[in-house]
Amino acid sequence: MVKIIKARDKQKQSLARAEEKPKKHHKLIETTYRSNNNSDYTEKIEELEKNFKYSSNSNHYWSEPEHSMLYGTPIYEAASPAQKIALNHLHWFGMYNVVAASETETITYNQVTASVFAACGYETLSQMLTLETSQERSHIHAFHNIGHKTMKALLGKDAFKASIKGKLSQRTNKNKTRGLTTSGLPNLFDFQWKNSLADYQYYALRFIAKTMLASKNQCSSQYLSELEKTYTYKFIPASTTGLIGRGLSPPSMQRFFAFNWGGSPFLASQYYGLRMMANMVLKNTEHIRSKYFKKLEKKGDFIPAPTAVSYYHFLDESLHTTTSMLIARDLYKDFPQPTAYEKLTINLALYMMQRGILSGLSAVVPDRYYADDCSMMHFVYKILQSPLFGMPHQEAIHWVEKCFCEEHEGFQMTAKYHRRLRADCCRFYESFEHLWPVNREMSLMASEGTIEKAIQRNRKTFQQFSQFIAEIRS
Ligand SMILES: [Fe+2]
Ligand SMILES: [Fe+2]
Repeated sequence: MVKIIKARDKQKQSLARAEEKPKKHHKLIETTYRSNNNSDYTEKIEELEKNFKYSSNSNHYWSEPEHSMLYGTPIYEAASPAQKIALNHLHWFGMYNVVAASETETITYNQVTASVFAACGYETLSQMLTLETSQERSHIHAFHNIGHKTMKALLGKDAFKASIKGKLSQRTNKNKTRGLTTSGLPNLFDFQWKNSLADYQYYALRFIAKTMLASKNQCSSQYLSELEKTYTYKFIPASTTGLIGRGLSPPSMQRFFAFNWGGSPFLASQYYGLRMMANMVLKNTEHIRSKYFKKLEKKGDFIPAPTAVSYYHFLDESLHTTTSMLIARDLYKDFPQPTAYEKLTINLALYMMQRGILSGLSAVVPDRYYADDCSMMHFVYKILQSPLFGMPHQEAIHWVEKCFCEEHEGFQMTAKYHRRLRADCCRFYESFEHLWPVNREMSLMASEGTIEKAIQRNRKTFQQFSQFIAEIRS
């Protein structure tokens, strides 16, 4: 025991000394922290949220029209000007709903990893992550509040009724082999774990992780230990709606990875390689939204509140992206060389993320790249039947098939954004020597994210979807 404590103290001292050296990334971390502390973007978002009224923003586009739900589909061509504006607002809602869920996950992982860095003597970095966490709380609140008011105004009170989406998702997952979307992938990922089995599986994985990480006597997360003492492992937060939650699904795997992020400085820093993937997804779309804000500002036009929220969020997130980049790309070199176990863990996580959130193309949302479009199929069906379009069932199902199962301009737009995002990812990951080629080159993203494969998958999903809707209507 004494030996372990001495080894940890020694590692902490040497890491603290490393922080004292004037390395470039340490200075950049200091600068980023100062910039973030001095910025008032979060306060501006809070102010905009407080004064938001849908009626004061309802007649304006909140971003370029191409950033609208269903853009480029046959139904978009047939939509009225008012419906097109509503589809633009619905896209804002949908996108920031995912961002809010992702940032809820970020809050947990920031705290888990900040605690590791603090234990290693990186106080400034730990404080910066704490500041980011408080900013994320404000962002999430604003997205939920504006999104809720928007949905209520557009789709009425039925927008929040319990939906059939969950049942539908269970049905499609049960009936289809997941090889449908990920042919040729290891069976490990295709197994649908039942709850009790997942519990045992988590115990086993956690035991392996604990054994493998303990052998190195490293700094670990006090925050995670407290969390585990206070509750049980089941309460290490896990979700399925944010980008990381979706990528590292099922929850038992997410908890396993969370345990790893809190167990080693190398893995804590490489979690930020994963966070960087989410940062790049967001930047891919928010950069265009921020340009729209600048365009309106330059012309002296009215700026809708959600457009301004996107702009200030983009500025806050630019600093968060710099944090992810500095930790993942540079800071990890301060720590001892990774073990084979640590390399395997980060590669597995990145592979699952790539597979879960980047290996597809949505037919109806220009910046969504999940491997299946099942939940969007349900959402579009619901919108078409809402007062916004007022279609009867038969007509709605006809348009759903046309939009999801036939090629249209919307697919081309999504494919263009997807290619640009892949180029960003490749540029970022190419210098990481410890990554597998499939992760460095993002080859799964390239091979699975094609229009042909998206349509092929949608046709199978549509068959199950239409059959399910017919059953619940009969
Ligand atoms: Fe945020
Ligand atoms: Fe962020």
